[in-house]
Amino acid sequence: MPYIGTMQQSLFDADGRKEALAPGATALRGFARKRDVALLAAIEAIAAKAPFRHMMTPGGFEMSVAMTNCGTAGWVTDRSGYRYQAHDPQSGAPWPAMPVEFLVLADEAATAAGFATFAPDACLINRYEPGTKLSLHQDRDEADYAHPIVSVSLGLPATFQFGGPKRADPVRKVVLEHGDVVVWGGPSRLFHHGVLTLKSGEHPLTGTRRFNLTLRKAL
Ligand code: SIN
Ligand code: FE2
Repeated sequence: MPYIGTMQQSLFDADGRKEALAPGATALRGFARKRDVALLAAIEAIAAKAPFRHMMTPGGFEMSVAMTNCGTAGWVTDRSGYRYQAHDPQSGAPWPAMPVEFLVLADEAATAAGFATFAPDACLINRYEPGTKLSLHQDRDEADYAHPIVSVSLGLPATFQFGGPKRADPVRKVVLEHGDVVVWGGPSRLFHHGVLTLKSGEHPLTGTRRFNLTLRKAL
């Protein structure tokens, strides 16, 4: 491998697949790839029980990204606010159980990024179609910010924005590809992040879609 200089080198691990985005925030390139088929099958099984839907923001706007959940707690939004709840508001049933492969991946990714054992109880599943986006926001509906966030990208690539503690802070743009995992916690746990408008494309496993799993310890 050619010498790439001390500054750049410190941002990557030996095989160049681990990329520092901010203090406490790491992109693990291709980390979920070997499990892609199983992860997508699990998403399909979850969506058969708790279908993707466009939730309403407290301000009355329908979100362009379609969402569902699995785990003990699911993230929801409606006119009364953002929160976690044990039941799918659409069916009244508990959210589908968290698949074991999600738990294993989340723990392995958190460990690879330098965090201790991670046992998420909530997984928000986002489905993006071309033209949809997720505005800059903080993940702050969880009970304890000591736990990191593990975010898994599948399907079409997207431009992820990772900013700072203030909404107006400069953002770093990173293209997240199929199988990439981003972990953030500690000093960047409450940093703003979002996803720019998805460009059209075709992925062999997901067609015209991108899926994102956001694994959290919510309760
Ligand atoms: C999120 O912040 O909830 C999702 C991020 C992503 O889709 O990569
Ligand atoms: Fe988020």
